[in-house]
Amino acid sequence: MTDQSTVTEAAAPVRPMPDAQTVTAVTHWTDRLFSFRVTRPQSLRFRSGEFVMIGLPDDAGKPILRAYSIASPNWDEELEFYSIKVPDGPLTSRLQHIAVGDRIILRPKPVGTLVLDALLPGKRLWFLATGTGIAPFASLMRDPETYEKFEQVIMMHTCREAAELEYGRQLVENLRDDPLIGEMVEGKLHYYPTTTREQTDRMGRITDNLASGKVFADLGLPPMDAGHDRAMVCGSLAFNLDVKAVLEGFGLNEGANSEPREYVVEKAFVGDGI
Ligand code: FAD
Ligand code: A2P
Repeated sequence: MTDQSTVTEAAAPVRPMPDAQTVTAVTHWTDRLFSFRVTRPQSLRFRSGEFVMIGLPDDAGKPILRAYSIASPNWDEELEFYSIKVPDGPLTSRLQHIAVGDRIILRPKPVGTLVLDALLPGKRLWFLATGTGIAPFASLMRDPETYEKFEQVIMMHTCREAAELEYGRQLVENLRDDPLIGEMVEGKLHYYPTTTREQTDRMGRITDNLASGKVFADLGLPPMDAGHDRAMVCGSLAFNLDVKAVLEGFGLNEGANSEPREYVVEKAFVGDGI
């Protein structure tokens, strides 16, 4: 008699997957957005805000790798990611179907400019994000060092529709209820989500709400001042360019790991043809 399991294994050998990590949780937020958690390689050290390359093998077993911001803070035992689903995207057309127990590739070499070390000391820190650009700030908002270094932290997140804000909204809500970090963020973390296409209580592009002064008025905060305001920006190339112009208008200058200044920028994704 034939052993069926042996026959199946012989017909479809499991290909070795270097740097593989196991999926521990998956949450679908909209038909275009999901988040997931994976095991963390023991040797992986990173600074909150950095990104790594993650991926899956294609049909021929060749890795399809893409840059992903680590959305979890550096103290977390697992790693969290927040992802777009691009219908025909080489990676995300596959990645959106992962389930608990599946394995993904994770190259443990974190890099990136959205780190606290790349900013000069200051009093207020602005996180400015559209879409999945909130991912690095999901990490930094949960890192106690952010609140040790800054007196106030303002998270501005803008999407077309309210459902696209939900991952960030729940993250901030959980942070406020967290027994360890809740006290630390109390009165320090200002969350300012807006939509641009769906009618909601708070609307408008980040650029417009900064340039018009609406966000300062709404939060009861003084306008940006290069002497003590610092900012981190993560969105599409067009968004990043427009925000940079607004920040420069307030007198802030762009910094980098090698030369800390008043603000830093990273692309949330590389657009078509860019
Ligand atoms: P791709 O061929 O890579 O992209 C196809 C097209 O889809 C792009 O040309 C672009 O128009 C669009 N697109 C890709 N990514 C996005 C996005 N995030 N939001 C809106 N449109 C997009 N993606 C994430 O979902 N989460 C992250 O945390 C993240 N971090 C990144 C960090 C860096 C530094 C960079 C450069 C990119 C990051 N990306 C992130 C984008 C990611 O690398 C992939 O592009 C994305 O996963 C889609 O992969 P794909 O192979 O399916 O399609
Ligand atoms: P808008 O709806 O006015 O275009 P997208 O889904 O196209 O990636 O955009 C995500 C969010 O970023 C949307 O709310 C969009 O507003 C906003 N946005 C896109 N481009 C810019 C830009 N150049 N400056 C400011 N906000 C932008």
